[in-house]
Amino acid sequence: MTQELWTKVDDYINETLLPPDATLENALRKSSQADLPQIQVSPSQGKLLHVLARSIGARRILEIGTLGGYSTIWLARALPADGKLITLEASPKHADVARENIAAAGLAGKVELRLGAALDTLPKLVAEKQGPFDFIFIDADKKSMPEYFDWALKLSRKGSLIFSDNVVRNGGITDATSGDPDIQGVRRFYEALHSEPRVCVTAIQTVGSKGYDGYSLALVTSEI
Ligand code: SAH
Ligand code: DHB
Ligand code: MG
Repeated sequence: MTQELWTKVDDYINETLLPPDATLENALRKSSQADLPQIQVSPSQGKLLHVLARSIGARRILEIGTLGGYSTIWLARALPADGKLITLEASPKHADVARENIAAAGLAGKVELRLGAALDTLPKLVAEKQGPFDFIFIDADKKSMPEYFDWALKLSRKGSLIFSDNVVRNGGITDATSGDPDIQGVRRFYEALHSEPRVCVTAIQTVGSKGYDGYSLALVTSEI
């Protein structure tokens, strides 16, 4: 009673709570046709990002890790007419697919995709004074999560939300001796969250069509 049941329940949630959406389905189809890894957030998780960003009236959103633009579309749809989302992606192939999907979703005017390793593009956002962002979604390579969190804080204000994906990794994060740099990256991210007095944070384990993982949500509680 594990993956099969989790998928069945996700199917039920999708059928009952998420109306068919040709734009999002197109983005998934185009991503799979281009052989992108199928590691997007699930539909109900995408909608959670949307609900969160919308509930705080986010006008500026930063995403680290675009892939084919699936989560980008969910998030950008939460923006008002003059809102903006900047998304960072290292892979030119992923970026090409994402740009097409974002344009097909009618969101090209609100979304700016920056190609490059996020540890190179994040300092540029700071230098350009692109912050503060109201909502930041960290979802790129896991080994650099603590560094992404540092940059996210620099690009935040009091009241910003920092949402990070993949903080449970099948439970792998409990293995302190793991030789997996992704696991060690996530563990260092927890330490960074723990020792950062400017955030109020929690983490939640999740199961679903994408397996067993989790996310963390940090509210910036002090002036940056
Ligand atoms: N947020 C997407 C999934 C992102 S998957 C969604 O839910 O729809 C992680 C993405 O991060 C991949 O596209 C990968 O190419 C990208 N990535 C990996 N390392 C990166 C880096 N150093 N800088 C920027 N992007 C990176
Ligand atoms: C991986 C990355 C993700 O962002 C994700 O949601 C799942 C897996 C990965 O790199 O393995
Ligand atoms: Mg992820």
